[in-house]
Amino acid sequence: MQKVAVIGLGYVGLPLAVRCIEKGHEVFGIDLEKDKIEKIKKGISPVQDDFIEERKGLLKKIKASSSFDSVKKSDVVIICVPTPVNELFFPILDIVESAAESVAKNTKPGQLVIVESTINPGVCEEVVEPIFASHGLKEGKDYYLAHCPERIDPGNETWNVANLPRVVGSMSKTGLQKSQAFYESIIDGAIRPMKSIREAEAVKIMENSFRDINIAFVNELAKSFDQMDIDIKDVIEGASTKFSFMPHYPGRGVGGHCIPVDPYYLIERAKKSGFDHHFLRVAREINNSMPNYTVELLQDMLNEVKLPMKGTKVGVLGLSYKANMNDLRESPSLKIIKELKKKKATVLKYDPHVPGQSDAKDLTSFLKKCDALILATNHKEFLEIKPETFKKNNIKVIVDGMNCLDYEKIKKLGIKYHGIGRK
Ligand SMILES: NC(=O)c1ccc[n+]([C@@H]2O[C@H](COP(=O)([O-])OP(=O)(O)OC[C@H]3O[C@@H](n4cnc5c(N)ncnc54)[C@H](O)[C@@H]3O)[C@@H](O)[C@H]2O)c1
Repeated sequence: MQKVAVIGLGYVGLPLAVRCIEKGHEVFGIDLEKDKIEKIKKGISPVQDDFIEERKGLLKKIKASSSFDSVKKSDVVIICVPTPVNELFFPILDIVESAAESVAKNTKPGQLVIVESTINPGVCEEVVEPIFASHGLKEGKDYYLAHCPERIDPGNETWNVANLPRVVGSMSKTGLQKSQAFYESIIDGAIRPMKSIREAEAVKIMENSFRDINIAFVNELAKSFDQMDIDIKDVIEGASTKFSFMPHYPGRGVGGHCIPVDPYYLIERAKKSGFDHHFLRVAREINNSMPNYTVELLQDMLNEVKLPMKGTKVGVLGLSYKANMNDLRESPSLKIIKELKKKKATVLKYDPHVPGQSDAKDLTSFLKKCDALILATNHKEFLEIKPETFKKNNIKVIVDGMNCLDYEKIKKLGIKYHGIGRK
């Protein structure tokens, strides 16, 4: 049993804290948001997460606080704070810096400090270590610094904090041994040691850039195929019969705290080393263009039924970036809504997972209010809508931003339909 302090109790830190308790560690949870701390103390999860939900009873066992005092008595400290970008897509590392500063001020000799936040290669050595050095602390002697990028995918029914394989890197040999042993104590999946802390940082950025690039590729194909009347979903199914093909799917844009953010960390750091990540920049541009492309499709469809964009009641189905979740971070829906408003449409929103921001109490009353729809999130509630229901509610146009509706039936009913790369 070790004393573990988890800093940042969000989608990454909270399941981790719960898992550490489950595996017999004593856990201190630190978060600056006081209402999160209060909820955790009452046994309520402030984030939507099935892994936590199934272990709800363990939440109260986390010694949660906004104070960093518990760092002084912890053997292991894990930093899980956000790493966003600003409106110009520049990485914001201030939050990691502030958390590292708070740890350095309170560290105890021999402590293992792990960064789980997603960071570009170089952050541990160039940003975190100098903060500890400014307090007279030497890595490998006074404390040990490691990086173990988190791969958690909230809402994923198969992979969770307990079974995801991990990679770990450290600045010192002892740091690597200690961090590997710690993760082996909590995780059932394999723990892969990396030769350096930089390599561990690079692994995560590579994984998410890989996703971003592949999604950008199919999004570009979808736009191209739209011009050629080729159904991209069918083409992907065909291509998937080849042994080496890995299917990715087009859509109304990429959301969440990871894929649309992490590549910028590499792009900006590589610039400092004199390298231009042209390919990554283009992928980001393509994926960033998809919410507006979705609105353009709607405008084309409205033209066909002789409805102006201005004043037409356009219903946006789904606000969160991911199915069956309530996470709005970097959600393409929000960009779609902004673009629709710019074009003077009368925008109505509905998300059963985000009732506070919905313009109707239920789906039935929402559909009644709309002339046209953009399906922006593939929530299970939307997959269950019968095409006849759209017809009954006099919906004239549907843009299916996730290619998830029964489009043949919808078209047969005389409703104008367009998906992303299928019509
Ligand atoms: N969400 C994901 O699916 C996911 C997956 C893998 C990796 N990551 C990475 O993990 C990191 C955390 O992401 P998240 O989704 O858990 O974020 P989050 O916003 O859900 O949680 C972060 C928490 O940190 C707290 N916080 C902010 N500054 C703090 C400080 N100085 N001291 C203490 N607490 C502080 C916030 O109040 C918040 O509760 C990011 O780097 C992200 O890229 C996220």
